[in-house]
Amino acid sequence: MLPVRIAPSILSSDFSRLGDEVRAVDQAGADWIHVDVMDGRFVPNITIGPPVVRAVRKSTKKPVDCHLMIMEPERYIQDFADAGADIISVHPEATVHLERTLQSIRALGKRAGVVLNPGTSPSVLEYVLHCTDLVLLMSVNPGFGGQAFIPQVLPKARIVAEMIAQCHHQIDLQIDGGITAETIGHARACGVDCFVAGSAIYGKPDYAHAITALRRGAEAHS
Ligand code: DX5
Ligand code: ZN
Repeated sequence: MLPVRIAPSILSSDFSRLGDEVRAVDQAGADWIHVDVMDGRFVPNITIGPPVVRAVRKSTKKPVDCHLMIMEPERYIQDFADAGADIISVHPEATVHLERTLQSIRALGKRAGVVLNPGTSPSVLEYVLHCTDLVLLMSVNPGFGGQAFIPQVLPKARIVAEMIAQCHHQIDLQIDGGITAETIGHARACGVDCFVAGSAIYGKPDYAHAITALRRGAEAHS
């Protein structure tokens, strides 16, 4: 199993002080910075786009992990790559030609991710894992921070971890939504190695303490 990585989601940060908020979690021990991009169509909420990713990029040297909750993400991949994204993840329901979209992310020298909603079967991964660098399992329905963890994702995590184990290249297994110092251990025990957390970090007064609590919660089940 890959080491535990913690990716704070800036969705729960104070956007009026975004640069400070990114630097704060970087110094507090974050491994990646997770950026939630929403278009008001694929998900009900609207958030941010490439100019904000460019601002995040200027505030950290850690990998910038862009989770695109947008229709037709293929139209914007170049823009997110140019803005400084290191990882670009897309939802299969949002892109007609998933394999082509993943290949085009990789062709830009970026890592390509596939995101499964709580109701999406892992079978969509079967013919694209050869061009996938990360699988993100949603443990809430995407659109908002601060929702409750959906435990039915756990058996799916075990299935996907097994699919990944059959591959000959590194594929990170990430989870996003409702991750706390408690739920993180259940996900780790099912083979997850990268954990997105918004409110469990930015909702706490001490970011370093919050990240350490998450890391300990995961490592207790490694
Ligand atoms: C939800 C986003 C998440 C969100 C997680 O649509 O993809 O990244 O910020 O927030 P918490 O950790 O508060 O559930
Ligand atoms: Zn996300």
